[in-house]
Amino acid sequence: MSAFTDIRLEGVSYAFGTHTVLNRIDLSIKAGSIVALLGPSGCGKSTLLRLLAGLSEPKEGHVWFGERLVAKSGWMLPPEARDIGMVFQDYALWPHMSVAQNVAFPLKMRNVPGGERAQRVRQALERVGLAEFASRKPSGLSGGQQQRVALARAIVAEPGILLFDEPLSNLDSALRKSLCHEMAHLLRALGTTAVYVTHDRQEAQWLADRIVHLDGGEIASVRTVTSSSGEIA
Ligand SMILES: Nc1ncnc2c1ncn2[C@@H]1O[C@H](COP(=O)(O)OP(=O)(O)OP(=O)(O)O)[C@@H](O)[C@H]1O
Ligand SMILES: [Mg+2]
Repeated sequence: MSAFTDIRLEGVSYAFGTHTVLNRIDLSIKAGSIVALLGPSGCGKSTLLRLLAGLSEPKEGHVWFGERLVAKSGWMLPPEARDIGMVFQDYALWPHMSVAQNVAFPLKMRNVPGGERAQRVRQALERVGLAEFASRKPSGLSGGQQQRVALARAIVAEPGILLFDEPLSNLDSALRKSLCHEMAHLLRALGTTAVYVTHDRQEAQWLADRIVHLDGGEIASVRTVTSSSGEIA
């Protein structure tokens, strides 16, 4: 798939039993843009991201990646068929694998041959500033370094879409700021479409082109970030 993929949600709803969590969401995300999903705890941010990832199935509506339908009521394309990369709050690295093995995993899943795999792993680790840590285990790294490994793993296969669920929430505020700016720079260099869940307004402003505010399972507002300094219109 092309590195430029737009995302479209049409009338997407989701419920846990009788509790409606997302209510007829309509949203278009332009290929190559970065959208932050902002909103209070419990408003449905992670639920919406899981729908994009293929970890949950919508109750109503349709999800499109470019021209490709990826989910509708009663059917969804599994995560591994979606050409996505994901980064979670808790890093979700495999503790028994080295940094390089963690990062190589998506390439193995795609049957990329060994030589090319090693080269792409090296490049991804260089991009996140961790080239010299390739043979370490995740337990020998700081939280910020572990999240960089998760980021390298998410980008190594050059997916069309990157999904982030509060990736910086476990880090202290100075590190959060610097890593957030680094991620913004990296995402723009890659040109990947990105959806970034956070409850931190500042992170959203540092990183995103548009900020979608969710409240009670509905879109309360969509705002465009007008300058790199993070002012919003
Ligand atoms: N497995 C589950 N079973 C039942 N209800 C759930 C489940 N997971 C989430 N919910 C409910 O769905 C709603 C939305 O949850 P979601 O995790 O999407 O919120 P969120 O916006 O990501 O919140 P946070 O900022 O705290 O991560 C909440 O009311 C939550 O209690
Ligand atoms: Mg959440």
